[in-house]
Amino acid sequence: MTQAALDWLGKNHEEIVHGLADLVAIQSISTDGEHHAEIDRTAKLTCDMMRQAGLHNVDLLKVGGSLPYAYGEWLDAPGKPTVFLYAHHDVQPVNFVEQWQSDPWKLTRRDGRLFARGAADDKGAISALLGAIAAYRKTGNTLPVNVKMLVEGEEEIGSKYLLKFFEAHKERIKSDVIVVCDTENIEVGIPSLTYSLRGIVGVQVDVSTAKTPVHSGMAGGALPDAAIALNSILGRLYWNNGALPIPGMYDQVRTLTDKERAAFAKLPFNADKFRQGAGLVPTARFAVEEGYNTYGQTWRRPAVTVIAQEASSIKGASNQVLPKASAIVSCRIVPDQKPEKVLADLTAFLSKDPPWGCEVKVTPAGPPVDWWMTDPNGPAFEAALAAMRGGYDRDPVAIGCGGSIGFVGPLSALFNGAPALLMGIEDPASNAHAPNESLHEGDFKKLMASLVRLFDNLGKLTPARVK
Ligand code: BES
Ligand code: MN
Repeated sequence: MTQAALDWLGKNHEEIVHGLADLVAIQSISTDGEHHAEIDRTAKLTCDMMRQAGLHNVDLLKVGGSLPYAYGEWLDAPGKPTVFLYAHHDVQPVNFVEQWQSDPWKLTRRDGRLFARGAADDKGAISALLGAIAAYRKTGNTLPVNVKMLVEGEEEIGSKYLLKFFEAHKERIKSDVIVVCDTENIEVGIPSLTYSLRGIVGVQVDVSTAKTPVHSGMAGGALPDAAIALNSILGRLYWNNGALPIPGMYDQVRTLTDKERAAFAKLPFNADKFRQGAGLVPTARFAVEEGYNTYGQTWRRPAVTVIAQEASSIKGASNQVLPKASAIVSCRIVPDQKPEKVLADLTAFLSKDPPWGCEVKVTPAGPPVDWWMTDPNGPAFEAALAAMRGGYDRDPVAIGCGGSIGFVGPLSALFNGAPALLMGIEDPASNAHAPNESLHEGDFKKLMASLVRLFDNLGKLTPARVK
């Protein structure tokens, strides 16, 4: 049965790619609040594709003021484990437009990759999961496991309603194991199972020195400058190649074990490629802390990033002392940091001793997202590792992830500690959130082949034996 499903994937690959092309053609950007009609369309299209793949009880669902979820299931494998499958149909916006080498909304094949906004993050996952489902449903008319598939429409804006959705549909979605395709393979061709995620805590810093701008010829040097005040505050965050200078920041950070350190050191890493990927300027060095490699740094150490700053635009510049300036500081958090404590420490650090005694307001920006970490051992992880070994014809690796997927922990808890299998869809060249986002087509095929094997492997376990 598995072989027939694998053969089906081979024969129907172009069809699957066409489906992905239809998905990426819709500009389902969630971050600007201006594309709700498009998000409705990707939700509907995902529902159609679910029915097409052979899922039942397909519904477009909403909870509260949420954007639409696409949900479908297949429950005709009594006694077999139930697998919860997750992906998201919303995407990041397109900026730095001139850097795109082809239309972001037209799936374009180039150099073995499929380019488009959302091709990797995360519409490719919708196609991959449905491809693996269809592979079984179109051949043996059955699946080795029960599946419940949820495709969210607001992941890129922090999944505000997702936990409410889980609560509202708790019985309907109840599953024994969770599969998420929204992380990376460490390198093209190396199947990677992610066992940790960072969280996020964000704050907005608003600096205010006066009611209105004043001519800088009259007041320059006499009135406090809001932009300089803000940047002097942000300058406190400069960590050079050391730890972050925020008091309390490391109180709860879990130490890397020697075993993890050794495992991270063994993973493939190419500094030049990393430099080139970002187009790092020749004079710049990495900001990594002494004693950590890039993996340890991005997976298991907290980080701050100024993701936005406003004072006055260069275009609209005039000779004024600016009265207001604002920034958003986003902090990635790691095991065992508590979001509330990080928020308090960061707020205290940015609020204290305001330059010239100006007003500094530090307020939470966006909902906090918790980190997640699991022990990648047990029957479900073995099933996944074996499936990936078969699908990629290569030994899989266990990795961390510097990004955040907030629901994994809470959903696993809701399912009484169900294991969560995070299987890679992206790779370091995928440019998620950036210009020329792409999906490696070879790895896309291998992921689908792995999912087919995973369903088979999980089908050999009983629900009670999955954990
Ligand atoms: N797919 C990413 C998560 C990710 C990031 C995987 C980096 C692999 C490497 C996900 O879609 C994402 O971008 N998440 C947001 C979460 C935020 C909106 C709460 C993130 O990490 O910024
Ligand atoms: Mn994603």
